[in-house]
Amino acid sequence: MQPQVLTRDDEERRAAFAADIAEALCRRPRQIPSEYLYDELGSALFEAICRLPWYRITRAELSLLARHARDIFRPLVRPVSVAELGCGSGEKLAVLVSAAGERFHQVQLVDISPAALDMARYRLQAIGIRGIVAHHATYEQGLIRAAQQRPRQGSLVVLFLGSNIGNFAPPVARDLLAHIRRSLRPGDALLLGTDLVKPERELLLAYDDPLDVTAAFNRNLLRRINDELGGNFDLESFTHRATWNAAARRVEVHLVSARAQRVTIPAAQLDLDLGKGESIWTESSHKYEPGQVLEQGLAAGFSGGEQWIDQDAKFALTRFTAGGP
Ligand code: AVJ
Repeated sequence: MQPQVLTRDDEERRAAFAADIAEALCRRPRQIPSEYLYDELGSALFEAICRLPWYRITRAELSLLARHARDIFRPLVRPVSVAELGCGSGEKLAVLVSAAGERFHQVQLVDISPAALDMARYRLQAIGIRGIVAHHATYEQGLIRAAQQRPRQGSLVVLFLGSNIGNFAPPVARDLLAHIRRSLRPGDALLLGTDLVKPERELLLAYDDPLDVTAAFNRNLLRRINDELGGNFDLESFTHRATWNAAARRVEVHLVSARAQRVTIPAAQLDLDLGKGESIWTESSHKYEPGQVLEQGLAAGFSGGEQWIDQDAKFALTRFTAGGP
């Protein structure tokens, strides 16, 4: 569904969407950037994924946050402010704030999904949190705005949870961590959530669930391209596929064309000929070893790293601190 009135911002976003799609779909292998998974329906489907018995990331992280909230914030200079990159529905932040048992000076929310931002703001306000600032922005833009709008006093903790960092290949992830480090002041911190390497069978069930919710989440990308860019993808002729790439330590998510077909996307000025069995790579979800997470943070310029691990679901929370100059 399209809004009746498009603002200039909406127009610019749509032009960027069209340009990104055109570029990525012409690459070999063909791709669609995973950030576009999160429109209103996509965000709702992702919330459903987080509740699937086979997708354990969210539950594992929530219980780590609830359990260690006080330890996580203990060494920080008061008052503490937080900025969450990719806050989604705000559920994790709400749990963390409640469990920490203290008042945060300011809470900044960053997400590319307006629906997610609305939900997060509503949820946090409902538990009495004040001083919320929401940014409809990418991680990079959001970091810049969060650094500009943070309070003068106290410390800032950037939250990068849910293994959102897993969408990036390790060198790109390290650049993003370095970018986070550069936008912090000495004494600030980063709390990073990373999913850990686990048996292939568990990983494949998490990314190709028996209820096909993840398949719907993935195919929704094509529906979004049809709705927003006038595309004519036939959703039924694409199969969801998840594979484990052991060498690269990542789950790769694809949409495979079940037959030879031509797809037209007018707003992206694109005519695409897809062969039978040809795939569009829509997402990567990198998995880490605990030590590798610590190494990444140090390589990005952080100092100490403290880690809390859920042995059961194999998920890690790591707090990095920003040292002096
Ligand atoms: C939101 C990127 C962390 O990689 O696990 C879940 C997205 N994709 N199921 C992940 C996702 C398919 C998720 N992240």
